[in-house]
Amino acid sequence: MDKKLRRTIIAGNWKMNKDRQQTAAMIAELIPLVKGKDCGIALCVPYTDLETALNAAKGSNIAVGAQNCHFEESGAFTGEISAGMLTEMGVPTVIIGHSERRQYFGETDETVNKRVKAALTAGLEVILCVGETLTQREQGITGEINSMQLKIALSGVSEAELRRVIIAYEPVWAIGTGRTATPDQAQEVCAQIRGVLAGLYGQKAAQGVTIQYGGSMNAQNAAELLSKPDIDGGLIGGASLKAPDFAKIIEAACM
Ligand code: PGA
Repeated sequence: MDKKLRRTIIAGNWKMNKDRQQTAAMIAELIPLVKGKDCGIALCVPYTDLETALNAAKGSNIAVGAQNCHFEESGAFTGEISAGMLTEMGVPTVIIGHSERRQYFGETDETVNKRVKAALTAGLEVILCVGETLTQREQGITGEINSMQLKIALSGVSEAELRRVIIAYEPVWAIGTGRTATPDQAQEVCAQIRGVLAGLYGQKAAQGVTIQYGGSMNAQNAAELLSKPDIDGGLIGGASLKAPDFAKIIEAACM
């Protein structure tokens, strides 16, 4: 199957940045810059900005996402937000398994799997993040780590549900460091990831999955990364915080 048959998706991950006023202002600035672009565009914002972002992006080609959700529907889980709470607001997308969640908040492959399943059951689209640390890359286990993270995260996810899953390959050593994976490094792992998906769901299903690269992607390096056959988009942190920077990446990615 041809790469062109997959949806190119550029998603911003704002992490813990921007208040509501800044959210409304940036989306208002971004809308005219990306008008008519024929690819998926999303901004994953803090929970407290979701409603503002949904209102600001209404009627535009910008989708709004959250950055995590819990696996239970409700209950005694102080500080958590359920998948159903997101869909009830009209949020279509959620990031699950970001390395910062794994690194700082005790997220494991098992809890990532539970969150992925809960999000899909609630009807959300999931951006599932996987990626190796620098030590793991130096130990030569990049393929094994990404394969393991992927297989555990997708355990119990059906082929029909996989159509609502985007994979973000984010090498931990490239996130927020300014040290981007080379296009060849990123392509190598994204192709491996597609191979793992083919093993789990068959070639046809695997060819339909959008695989993003994430980690210091910016307006300068986006076009070359996105020219690779298995890189279908980007998950962008720092460079998604300013409308002109983010728009330049979208310009590089989408017709
Ligand atoms: P970065 O973050 O673009 O700032 O490296 C990417 C991410 O964490 O998703």
